[in-house]
Amino acid sequence: MADRVIAGSDHAGLSLRAEAVKVAREAGFEVEDVGPFSGESVDYPDYARQVAEAVASGRARLGLLVCGTGIGMSIAANKVKGARAAHCASEYEARMARLHNDANVLCIGERVVGLGLGAAIVKAFLETRFEGGRHERRVQKLKDMEK
Ligand code: RB5
Repeated sequence: MADRVIAGSDHAGLSLRAEAVKVAREAGFEVEDVGPFSGESVDYPDYARQVAEAVASGRARLGLLVCGTGIGMSIAANKVKGARAAHCASEYEARMARLHNDANVLCIGERVVGLGLGAAIVKAFLETRFEGGRHERRVQKLKDMEK
């Protein structure tokens, strides 16, 4: 069965979320898109919570969140136990977030990175695996902080 990715945004992240969903499907992931599906103004914590909880519970392996800056989504997602959300504005950060931090939720700002770079950031995040080794101990310490 294909790995599952779950994606959500607010009204400021609609276009990049659509790109992110496309990139994830092209990369072979099964994608659950939690919306929103209109341009109506919504509150980013509602979508961050749905996505982060799905990842923390194991329903999805990775989460993708888009808002205007990516900041609100990352603050909100990191309040969910088990979520390690990384706010990334470059492909390098997205790769390192997976390699070293085992980040399981990517947060991006459509108004900051735009669609082209945004799609490349999503691709880098999805195609990179956690490196483990010495980083295992550090990620374990993050998990210990949630106890
Ligand atoms: C919405 O205007 C904007 O505040 C939101 O998308 C996000 O950037 C919050 O962090």
